[in-house]
Amino acid sequence: MTPTNVTHPGTEPGLARNLLPWAAGGVGLWLAWRWLRQSRQISLRDKVVMITGGSRGLGLVLARQLADEGAHLILCARDGPELERAFDELAGRAPRVMAIPCDVTQREQVEIMIAVALARWGRIDVLINNAGTITVGPVETMLLEDYEVAMRTHFWGPLFMIQAVCRGCASVARGESSTSRPSAAK
Ligand SMILES: NC(=O)c1ccc[n+]([C@@H]2O[C@H](COP(=O)([O-])OP(=O)(O)OC[C@H]3O[C@@H](n4cnc5c(N)ncnc54)[C@H](OP(=O)(O)O)[C@@H]3O)[C@@H](O)[C@H]2O)c1
Repeated sequence: MTPTNVTHPGTEPGLARNLLPWAAGGVGLWLAWRWLRQSRQISLRDKVVMITGGSRGLGLVLARQLADEGAHLILCARDGPELERAFDELAGRAPRVMAIPCDVTQREQVEIMIAVALARWGRIDVLINNAGTITVGPVETMLLEDYEVAMRTHFWGPLFMIQAVCRGCASVARGESSTSRPSAAK
C-alpha cells in the first residue's frame, strides 16, 4: 500500500464536508449569544448612583468600580471623617462625587439628604442600599434591642431610602422643586 492511500479516522473528505455546517452553525450561535449578552449590558457611564454606606468596605469597593465605569457618585455614612476620606479618594476618580453624612435609620435625615442630592444634580438613576452592620452572638446573649437595631438598619433604612428617592425623583419629573440644604453636602 502506498502512503497516499492511507486514511485516518475522522479525516475523510466526506466527513469534513458533513461537519462544516455544524461548525458554522456553532460559531453563528456563539456570535448571536455574545451579541445578545452585550446588548443586555447596562452602561453606568454618566449615571448618578447613590450608595449608602459608601465610606468603607463593600460600599467603597463598589464606589471605586463605579467611578472607573464613569458613574457620578453620591455616598453616605454616619462617620463624617471616614466619609470625607472616601470622598477625597474618589474625587479624582469619578466624574463627580457628593458625600453627605446621614444615618439611614433616621427618616428625616434620609429625606433631607435626598432633597439635597436632587437639588444639586437633579436625578438619581441607581440606588444601592448597602449600609449595614452585622451583629452576631449566641441567641441567649442577644437582646431585643440588637434585633431592633438590625431591623432599623436593614429594613426601615432601605425602605426610607427607596421612598425618598422614588418620591423625590417623581417630584423632579413633575417639575416641582425639592427643598435643599446645600450646607449638608460636601
Ligand atoms: N462583610 C460581609 O461578610 C457581609 C456578608 C453579608 C452581608 N453583608 C452586608 O453588606 C453590607 C456592607 O458590609 P461591609 O462588610 O462592607 O460593612 P462595613 O465595612 O462595616 O461598612 C458598612 C458601611 O455602612 C455604613 N453604615 C452602617 N450603618 C449605617 C447607617 N445606619 N446609616 C448610614 N450608613 C451606615 C458604614 O458607615 P458608618 O458606620 O460611618 O455609618 C459603612 O460605610 C452590609 O449591609 C452588610 O450587612 C456583609
